[in-house]
Amino acid sequence: MKNYIIILLSFLYSCTPQKLNDVDNKINDLLSQMTLQEKVGQMTQINLTVIAKGPNKWTSSFPLMIDNKKARKAIVDYKIGSVLNTINNTAQKPKTWFNTITDIQKYAIDSSRLSIPIIYGIDAIHGTTYTDGATMFPQQITTAASWNPENAYNMALVCAYETRASGIPWNFSPVLDLGIDPRFPRQFETFGEDPLIVKKFGEAMIKGYQGKDNDVSNKYNIAACMKHFLGYHATISGKDRTPAYISENALREYHLPSFKTAIDAGAKTIMINSGLINGIPVHADYNILTNLLRKELGFEGVILTDWEDINKLYDRDKVAKSKKEATKIAINSGIDMSMVPYDYEEFCNNLIELVEEGEVKMSRIDDAVSKILKLKIELGLFKTPVTDYREYDDFGSEKHNQLAYKAASEAITLLKNEENILPIKGKSRILITGPNGNNMRTLNGAWSYSWQGELTDRFASGYNTIYEAFVNTYGSKNVKYVPGVSYKDGGNYYEMVENSISKAVYEAKRSDYIILCLGETSYTEKPGDLNDLKLHDLQVKLANELSKVNKPIILILNQGRPRLITDIQGLMKGIINIYLPGNLGGNALVDIVSGVVNPSGKLPYTYPAFPNSLIPYYYKPSEVQNNSQGAYNYVGKVNNLYDFGYGLSYSDFSYSNFNVDKNEYSRSESIKVTIDVTNNSDIDGKETIQLYISDLYASLTPDNKRLRDFKKIKINAGMKKTIEFILPVSELSFINASNMNVVESGVFNIKVGDFNKDISIK
Ligand code: BGC
Repeated sequence: MKNYIIILLSFLYSCTPQKLNDVDNKINDLLSQMTLQEKVGQMTQINLTVIAKGPNKWTSSFPLMIDNKKARKAIVDYKIGSVLNTINNTAQKPKTWFNTITDIQKYAIDSSRLSIPIIYGIDAIHGTTYTDGATMFPQQITTAASWNPENAYNMALVCAYETRASGIPWNFSPVLDLGIDPRFPRQFETFGEDPLIVKKFGEAMIKGYQGKDNDVSNKYNIAACMKHFLGYHATISGKDRTPAYISENALREYHLPSFKTAIDAGAKTIMINSGLINGIPVHADYNILTNLLRKELGFEGVILTDWEDINKLYDRDKVAKSKKEATKIAINSGIDMSMVPYDYEEFCNNLIELVEEGEVKMSRIDDAVSKILKLKIELGLFKTPVTDYREYDDFGSEKHNQLAYKAASEAITLLKNEENILPIKGKSRILITGPNGNNMRTLNGAWSYSWQGELTDRFASGYNTIYEAFVNTYGSKNVKYVPGVSYKDGGNYYEMVENSISKAVYEAKRSDYIILCLGETSYTEKPGDLNDLKLHDLQVKLANELSKVNKPIILILNQGRPRLITDIQGLMKGIINIYLPGNLGGNALVDIVSGVVNPSGKLPYTYPAFPNSLIPYYYKPSEVQNNSQGAYNYVGKVNNLYDFGYGLSYSDFSYSNFNVDKNEYSRSESIKVTIDVTNNSDIDGKETIQLYISDLYASLTPDNKRLRDFKKIKINAGMKKTIEFILPVSELSFINASNMNVVESGVFNIKVGDFNKDISIK
């Protein structure tokens, strides 16, 4: 028997690990031949502009060209192993990408001693951002509002295909940060405020990018890069790259689960939070990078810095007295590759010196380089250094655009529908007004054809703006567009100009409906920092003036974060949040307004009512206080305009027969919850059933409630469905004061819709 087992084990060993051994052998073989300079080069990532020049938005006929002298110096002399980004911050054609990366690889492969290919990385976060003609999906926040992870999977699947069609194998996506703060300029890049949603949608994106078996050598798959590890959005000021103070148990409770799940799903690379937590810049934090990420979570892929972040340890965060010391701290903390991305000579020279002086161990360098080489081997770059756009017929296809449309139409969220003003059927006279009514830039947001998204109207002119989509549905005779106010051409994203409010009012009088399109234009990162969460004064003025006409106004919110509308929401008959719905957003919106599509999106964040009341739905109980004994008024309440998970439908759903299978459970059991959902209307619709749990008493003050499961289902007119949730008791855990994941015994309240029941855990 023993012999059989040994034979079986050696057979299994000879089958599966063989491939692994090949990879390990190749890595060891290369490492044994590499000079220190060659190793350090592999750890260095530069911006394309360092070695190339080429077209910008005004000179599209000028070719993108690799500068021979600069490329030779960087890639042949300094042995640089990675390049990122685009040229002049402008999207390029797939053919241009193919030619450019082919040229770059020639320096790395033909002219270098060990022929190690370059790994090219890019930000393709809602579609292949920097490729002309790529399919632009809704941004992550919009996708989350669909409450259907399949849309995240589709987005990643198409994006992987189209990124490979652009010759690029590595994507700095998905964003697994918790979009916890409506002020933060990158909330739209996240899946919103709830840890469970971020986890589920993030995992779906890893599968879409890397394939279900993580075979990234497949020419339709790419390596994902989870970002930005860890706690990036939880800053005190709400501004980008400013300090956060997060206790270890809060980090683990809210921010870590999405990364842990993605690591377990096989995500290949990770990018580090450019900010600082508890006074320590994350790029300098050995505890987070090595103890937590490497040792505890077992992450074996490549750890990449964010933009220039090693230098920032010196020139911004002042924890290093020189760039050289900054390099020492970051590499010793666990960084494998530095997105330098400009002054690579200084970075390489510093790191070489540090190794020679014994300040950075060669074993740390070998560890980093082997991870980078492994990634290159796994991606198939040694065999196919650049994938060929001619093999990707579905690039930008109708099929791909249909998936982007589906995601947008499932996400758009109906927030108000007074007197069933919507849908608008028939040929009514419609005024489209507001600064977001007739442009593609606002539909897409940033990371669309350029970093800040300011080129979108040039690149996406083949798609419909809101106005164009309404013309297609209601007819050009019935639809008028008057902006009223506009974003300032060439200005900061928050600057507006008044142009024609009186004209808008004049046209409003001659219309049956006013579609008022307000919100924000595109921004991200520091340029998107915000001083006032309220809508711009001019937008409020336009709304107020239009309201005097006494025609029904439908407010369309097209924005990257929930801007405050408390002052004007009472003037609106209908309110629809379209977030950043992508190139197909105009079509999806008009289909909802006209009733072709029944809205089914739900808010993936809390919609605040006031600037000083910004808390997620899982706030602590003390946010709500009843009058205390005595003379004083101690009342506290939560002021949301709309709650997390809120969203209306044209159907009328009701819940009944709520049942929890037992009253008491042990820790190894699962809780079975069932509920009937009936569509009482004559319109087919989709409903998302949300299961919340409140821990009533715990050793750390428990959250008000937590989403523990959800299901989105279609229920046809007049039909009833029974929904079942099986929730392991282990899912009721929290991170306690000793940073342990525990389920404490006691009473928990289970809620679905208006129903709830207490159960106890032994
Ligand atoms: C952003 C990252 C991005 C990187 C490369 C940084 O400024 O924070 O999200 O991946 O630039 O473009």
